[in-house]
Formats: sequence, C-alpha cells, structure tokens
Amino acid sequence: YRHLKKKCKNSVISIPVNVILCIFTALEVIGGRTTMVQGGAAVLHCKLIGTTETLTQISWRRLTRGKPRTDNFYTISSDGPNYINGRDDRFRFIGSFTDKNGTLQLSNVTLMDEGTYTCVFTLFPSGIHETAIPLKVHVPPVTSLKDAHPALGNDEVPLITCTAAGSKPPAEVRWLTGTLGEKVRPSTNSSLHANGTTTTVSWLFGVPTRELNDRSVQCVITSPALEREETLTSTIHIHSPPLEVNITERSLSIVLTFRSDRSWPQSGVRVDGSTLQFLSITSELNGLYQCEASNSYGSKHAYLRVHFTSVIHYSHHLSTGRSRVRSPAVQHVRCVLGQDT
Ligand SMILES: *[C@@H]1O[C@H](CO)[C@@H](O)[C@H](O)[C@H]1NC(C)=O
Ligand SMILES: *[C@@H]1O[C@H](CO)[C@@H](O)[C@H](O)[C@H]1NC(C)=O
Ligand SMILES: *[C@@H]1O[C@H](CO)[C@@H](O)[C@H](O)[C@H]1NC(C)=O
Ligand SMILES: *[C@@H]1O[C@H](CO)[C@@H](O)[C@H](O)[C@H]1NC(C)=O
Ligand SMILES: *[C@@H]1O[C@H](CO)[C@@H](O)[C@H](O)[C@H]1NC(C)=O
Repeated sequence: YRHLKKKCKNSVISIPVNVILCIFTALEVIGGRTTMVQGGAAVLHCKLIGTTETLTQISWRRLTRGKPRTDNFYTISSDGPNYINGRDDRFRFIGSFTDKNGTLQLSNVTLMDEGTYTCVFTLFPSGIHETAIPLKVHVPPVTSLKDAHPALGNDEVPLITCTAAGSKPPAEVRWLTGTLGEKVRPSTNSSLHANGTTTTVSWLFGVPTRELNDRSVQCVITSPALEREETLTSTIHIHSPPLEVNITERSLSIVLTFRSDRSWPQSGVRVDGSTLQFLSITSELNGLYQCEASNSYGSKHAYLRVHFTSVIHYSHHLSTGRSRVRSPAVQHVRCVLGQDT
C-alpha cells in the first residue's frame, strides 16, 4: 500500500481517471489460505495483478510436514508446467500463464501436505514477487464404542469405552446416558501424536451392578474434520458368572458337554455336540452326574443322580435331561461323573 501511495503521489492531485489508473497499477500477488479434509482436493490460489511487465516464470516452493526443508517443486513458464524434484501427479496447474494466474490444484491431500506453499512470480524488469499460502489439513477420527468388560462387583470400574482416534483438530466426545443419570460418570483422556493428530478416549465409569446390564448408551463425537457429528450406540454388558444351571430330564438326551479328561463308560454314552445320550441301560452308568457351566467370571454346578434299576424304571422315570443355563456369555458347560453312591 505504501508503495502504491508513493507511486500515486503525483497522480492523486490530478483528475480522478488518474486515481483509477493508479490503483490498477498497484502490483500485488493475491493468495489466500486453504483448509482441506484429508483425501480431498485443495486449490492453492495465486494471481499477480497490477502490472504490465513481462512475466518470465511462475514457481512454487513448499515447507510442509512431508518436506520440512524448503522445496522448490514446480515451475510454470510460457511452455507449460514442470516438476523440479520429481513428479507428483497430484499437483495440477489450473491457472493461466498469460493471465498471470499461478493457481495449483492438489488432489488426494494427506497430512504430509500440510504447511506453507509460496507462489513466486518472476517479472522483467522488476524481479521477484511472491505470496505465501498456508494449507491446513483436517483428519477425521476413526471412531469406536467398545465393551470395557466390567465384571459384576461393588467398586467403580470402566463400563464402556468410546474412542476417537487420530483426529485433527482434536475430536470432542460426549455421552448420552438417558435414565442412567448419576449411576455413571464419564472420564476423558486425550493424547497428541507426533503427526499432529489426537486420540481421545472417553470411559463411562460406574459400579457394575445387574441393574446396569443391557442398558443402552450413546457416544457422540464431534470434530471440525467430520461433516456431521457421529453417534455410536451400544449396550453396557455386566459380565457375571453363570447364574443358574438346571439339569432337567427329557427324552433320551442330556444337553451337556463333557470334560474329556475323565474316563467315561465310553460304550454306554455318546457325546454328540452338547448332548449326552445313554446308549445302554446298565448299572455301570449309575452315578452322580455333575454339570458345570463356567465362563471367565466364575462357574455354577448342577447335579443329576442316575440310577438304573430296570428297563421299566428307566423308561418311566429317568433317563436323561437337559442343562439349562441362564447367564450372560457362558463359554463352557461340562459334566463330570461323580462318586457313585
Ligand atoms: C487419488 O486417489 C484415487 C483413489 O485412491 C486414485 O485412484 C487416484 O489415482 C489418485 N489421484 C492422483 C492424482 O494421485
Ligand atoms: C485463477 O485461476 C483459477 C483456476 O482456474 C480460478 O478459479 C481463479 O478464479 C483465477 N483467479 C483470478 C483472480 O482470476
Ligand atoms: C487419564 O490420564 C491421566 C494422566 O495421564 C491418568 O492419571 C488417568 O489414569 C487417565 N485416565 C484413565 C481412565 O486412564
Ligand atoms: C498419526 O499418528 C498416529 C500414531 O502414530 C497414527 O495412528 C495415525 O494413523 C497417524 N495419522 C496419519 C493421518 O498419518
Ligand atoms: C431352574 O429351576 C428353577 C426351579 O425349578 C426354575 O425356577 C428356573 O426357572 C430354572 N431355570 C432354567 C434356566 O430353566
């Protein structure tokens, strides 16, 4: 502007047409700033105005995360554009040399492209005129909502975890817990990575009671890098030992699985999936059958006394049964043959 004033000193006092002419002759490189979401195409605007001097070259240099030392990477002359230190087809000259428009397009933007791009016009006779164009890159977070595997108990523990990983700028995480109210409380930590992205982890803490089991919660993630906020929904699972095991008599099979390290009267029974079948009716099979349901949080037992006295008795009264297990996540059900009585 000062430059313009000096140049115009003599013209300003004369007729208005001169003032207009003078403004037109103010030499300036117009740039801008750009913010882009990773993966998109950024336009680096650059135009030289206010001169009738001869343009000999437009060149571009950059200082970015990926190129931490000043890198002259692109030139445009009247013959067209040229890469300097190796080709990168993501850059495309979309300006016009004759219009003194040096605009570049950069597609498939990555975090490594973030930095400052400088557009340089070389004029004859006045020399170099340049402007710096900052490019900011936003990275959307990778989001997840995961069970924190709380076991039934009396102490406050994390119940469920919401993660917004690798976001730039950092994501915000909040919870919608509906009627759970004071029974749960959120706690959030975040860590900044060397590449400028941030991972935010938020836990929902609470005392893992049965009341909290199967209750639905939502985690809401917002970030300028996301087009719209993201809402993840999941249920709290309170893990517990099996609550109940029943063996009920039913037809000719017991739905159970068996421990294989005990010797079974192999000829007398058949294990088929989770079913135990008595194949013959002999006193050899008499005994106390124990069924154990277990998972990593504990186990529960049930017993069935089998006593074959006669075929008649068997067909009327006994024989086999089914184990019913009411429990979250039973991983294992097994039966052992106990002491004969
Ligand atoms: C941009 O990425 C797309 C999809 O990965 C790819 O097909 C395309 O070739 C890339 N363009 C450039 C100029 O590298
Ligand atoms: C320069 O070229 C770009 C790309 O064609 C265009 O969008 C922009 O409007 C031009 N700038 C000016 C000031 O004419
Ligand atoms: C969050 O970070 C603080 C400080 O690093 C740490 O003391 C705390 O244990 C973290 N919270 C969780 C739930 O990991
Ligand atoms: C940034 O760094 C983190 C941690 O090293 C990594 O998980 C993430 O993928 C990186 N993000 C980008 C966009 O390079
Ligand atoms: C086990 O048996 C009890 C008592 O008969 C009954 O109340 C319960 O519903 C049974 N549970 C299952 C899972 O069958």
